[in-house]
Amino acid sequence: NLIMKSAQTIGVLVPNLGNPFFSMFIRGVQQTSRERHFIPLIFGANHDEQLESYYLQELIKRAVDGLIIASASITGEAIDNILKKNGIPYLLIDQNGGPSVDRIRVDDEQGGQLAARHLLTLGHQRIVVVMPEHPTQNLRIRLAGFKAQLVDQQIPLADSAVITSPMTKLGGYQATAAVLAQHPTAVFAINDETALGLMRGLHEQGVRVPDDISVLGYDDIDLDEYVVPKLTTIHQPVVTMGQQATELLINRVQNQRQPAQMVDLPVVLKQRESTGPVK
Ligand code: RIB
Repeated sequence: NLIMKSAQTIGVLVPNLGNPFFSMFIRGVQQTSRERHFIPLIFGANHDEQLESYYLQELIKRAVDGLIIASASITGEAIDNILKKNGIPYLLIDQNGGPSVDRIRVDDEQGGQLAARHLLTLGHQRIVVVMPEHPTQNLRIRLAGFKAQLVDQQIPLADSAVITSPMTKLGGYQATAAVLAQHPTAVFAINDETALGLMRGLHEQGVRVPDDISVLGYDDIDLDEYVVPKLTTIHQPVVTMGQQATELLINRVQNQRQPAQMVDLPVVLKQRESTGPVK
């Protein structure tokens, strides 16, 4: 039977297709879509608010059955305004606290705490963070967890120790001078791409990782094991996030009235080679 009642299509919007974090996410989306006989339409919005709204509007026009929106630059409220009036089910990822009914929650607070605890255990006290200027809510929670853990050990993070730079490899690379100006013994990069860019910058400046400066990332993308030194990071179960997001969304598409679905996923420290004891 070639004719289907709905087109069995979901729209998926991610900020950056060049970041392996999102290709891994999409791998999970594809697996579950296939099992449930849906087809995902995938778009990368380049961290651009206008492009995001454009794709959202276009996907609605094309009558997708539901939407997964990851790490959107536009606010949860704006998304809600666009989508609610069309009655299209949707699920937000990495936008904790957004208004969507169904939720995948990855514990960013705990991730931030684990990151801080790891650096503190290695004896680091002069620590800087590199993150975007306008962080999404999950990143703010990540930072809050990190800070709280430092305060706990009486080593509060000064405002000047938070260096802002776009959350990309280039952003990390370009943050090198600002990082070095703070004379840290350790850096917490808010995601792995930033960490990898920064490691290149440090290498070019003759700074040794981890002997001179420890670098800690976040996400656990596949590249982490292929750089020298291998990147220590906080692992996010991103393929599972993609699978679960798709599962919950399709459940919702097929039964709009069911109660809110909630999935909590853990994060863990992946200790590799880019962090070491303070010298
Ligand atoms: O690398 C992409 C980052 O943005 C991840 O840490 C993810 O949580 C998202 O918000």
